[in-house]
Amino acid sequence: MTVPEKATTSPEPLLKVSGLVKHFPIKKGLLQRQSGAVQAVDGLDFDVRPGETLGVVGESGCGKSTMGRLVTRLLEPTSGTIEFEGKDITHLNTAQMRPMRRDVQMIFQDPYSSLNPRHTVGAIVSAPFRLQGVTPEGGIKAEVQRLLALVGLNPEHYNRYPHEFSGGQRQRIGIARALALKPKLVVADEPVSALDVSIQAQVVNLLDDLQDELGLTYVIIAHDLSVIRHVSDRIAVMYLGKIVELADRKDLYERPMHPYTKALLSAVPVPDPKRRAKRERILLKGDVPSPIAPPSGCRFHTRCWKATEVCERQEPPLVSLATGHQVACHHPESVSDVQLPPRGPDQAPEEKAGAEAAQKVTKKTES
Ligand SMILES: Nc1ncnc2c1ncn2[C@@H]1O[C@H](COP(=O)(O)OP(=O)(O)O)[C@@H](O)[C@H]1O
Ligand code: SF4
Ligand SMILES: [Mg+2]
Repeated sequence: MTVPEKATTSPEPLLKVSGLVKHFPIKKGLLQRQSGAVQAVDGLDFDVRPGETLGVVGESGCGKSTMGRLVTRLLEPTSGTIEFEGKDITHLNTAQMRPMRRDVQMIFQDPYSSLNPRHTVGAIVSAPFRLQGVTPEGGIKAEVQRLLALVGLNPEHYNRYPHEFSGGQRQRIGIARALALKPKLVVADEPVSALDVSIQAQVVNLLDDLQDELGLTYVIIAHDLSVIRHVSDRIAVMYLGKIVELADRKDLYERPMHPYTKALLSAVPVPDPKRRAKRERILLKGDVPSPIAPPSGCRFHTRCWKATEVCERQEPPLVSLATGHQVACHHPESVSDVQLPPRGPDQAPEEKAGAEAAQKVTKKTES
């Protein structure tokens, strides 16, 4: 007899992503010949453990939504693999995906466009039951009302329309819909970015409470580090289609190793004025380059104050530089106390020293 393993003790990740790539072809002319591709996601490797929250951050256009839509199989990957509970789901067709649809759900960024304005809240939240042909115990209406109460809405409002609700309430409706089928994994794509700053924390806290209550696993996407700071167990930082750093939350905040992460962190507001005065603010020069023709070598080299010749030439692989702390950089920060693995003949000591000196000159200090 086999005893089912408890999710919390299972060493197996819930989601495992390897070499994930999505290139959107660009077609030109009458014949619609492919003239290039938007390299939206270009080789992601990560996993998500049962019960954790993985935060994913990066500037607009770096491929976060594409990643979310790939792992929830709303988009077909160009290459790479996606495993859910050990099962390869990379190329399952719609029919094969049907059972998995219950387990993996997505919450979208815009609570205005993601809810059909002509449908009542009851119809919206119960849609997953109809799509899956499931009748919940006690009937659909009772279950919808239970879900509405669960997300902090009035259960009596199931006959109302989305326009009768505020942005925060609409996002709660989206959350209720995502939770209807008791999913295992929820991918939330910038769930509070479209909301008023004053209610962002409420919705993030709701997600956090629901995770504890329902044993959910989250991937929460955000464009800056402030929103997901308190709820993430681990954080992946993306830049132009790649993960540049992946670490435990505390590690990432206290000892960021990638220059881009440092820059992102320096932009997070610090409430304490004493600490604010001490902190350097790093201003990145220029815009994010186009994912149609990303820079050679390290994609961040056009904006990095530590960039050297090797950065332009050679792409730094994502490697573990400390326990559970992966970084893709030739000249990582905060590594004096960690043993660096050999990184090839390119990284001469004087080159490192030079980069450190350059950093001191270009960093701006906030007064
Ligand atoms: N369906 C699509 N067709 C072509 N390009 C796309 C498509 N979806 C996204 N992109 C492009 O892929 C890149 C990454 O987009 P996205 O994943 O939305 O980034 P983010 O969510 O981080 O802002 C952008 O350059 C975007 O314009
Ligand atoms: S590899 Fe070079 S350019 Fe890229 S982040 Fe590191 S120092 Fe900067
Ligand atoms: Mg997005």
